Amino acid sequence: MSIVIAIDGPAASGKGTLARRLAAHYGRPHLDTGLLYRATACALLDEGLPLDDVEAAVAAARSLSLVDFDEKRLRARDMGEAASVVAAMPAVRAALIDMQRSFAARPEGAVLDGRDIGTVICPDATVKIFVTASPETRATRRALELAGRGEEADYAAILEDVKKRDARDSGRSAAPLKPAADAVTLDTTELDIEEAFTAARGIVEKARR
Ligand code: DC
Repeated sequence: MSIVIAIDGPAASGKGTLARRLAAHYGRPHLDTGLLYRATACALLDEGLPLDDVEAAVAAARSLSLVDFDEKRLRARDMGEAASVVAAMPAVRAALIDMQRSFAARPEGAVLDGRDIGTVICPDATVKIFVTASPETRATRRALELAGRGEEADYAAILEDVKKRDARDSGRSAAPLKPAADAVTLDTTELDIEEAFTAARGIVEKARR
């Protein structure tokens, strides 16, 4: 049976972890759509091109292949910021729509996480969850994650990043970050990962009934 789970939320809200856990639990494939924007930005930086080169960004977005992502590089702190810049360009977003929708259209369904999954990519998803947490909690989690990977993790700088990205991702005119009208909001500020996963599963089960 097809089940499409749409997870949206701001940077470092825990949506990626929840999406992965839900995908494993329900045995559905998972697409972290942030990686598409990160890989597009990375392609421009590798070619020494400015992030606002729309034509080059669209070409890079169109030629992405899901299989050869260097996740370690793409998940670095500076790449999140660069991704947020290319993601504000409507032509880049348009170039990535088909890839995301065909992923969601697999017969068994899929779990996708991003910023506009419930609003634009999968408006008919079985269930939509909008995952949030306070900026301070998100910055703490991101700092721990980066430190765990041996990267520099300056809390103040990360909090600054989180707030800047929130403002850019929510303030842009093309598919801004916002909950879909029929999304269930899950605030994970006071929850650990197990509690958040249990709550998310509850939301999915309710939607399936
Ligand atoms: O989820 P993330 O931090 O990996 O996303 C990186 C940036 O990509 C994010 O700041 C905004 C953009 N993005 C987007 O605009 N739409 C999505 N569906 C996913 C990510």
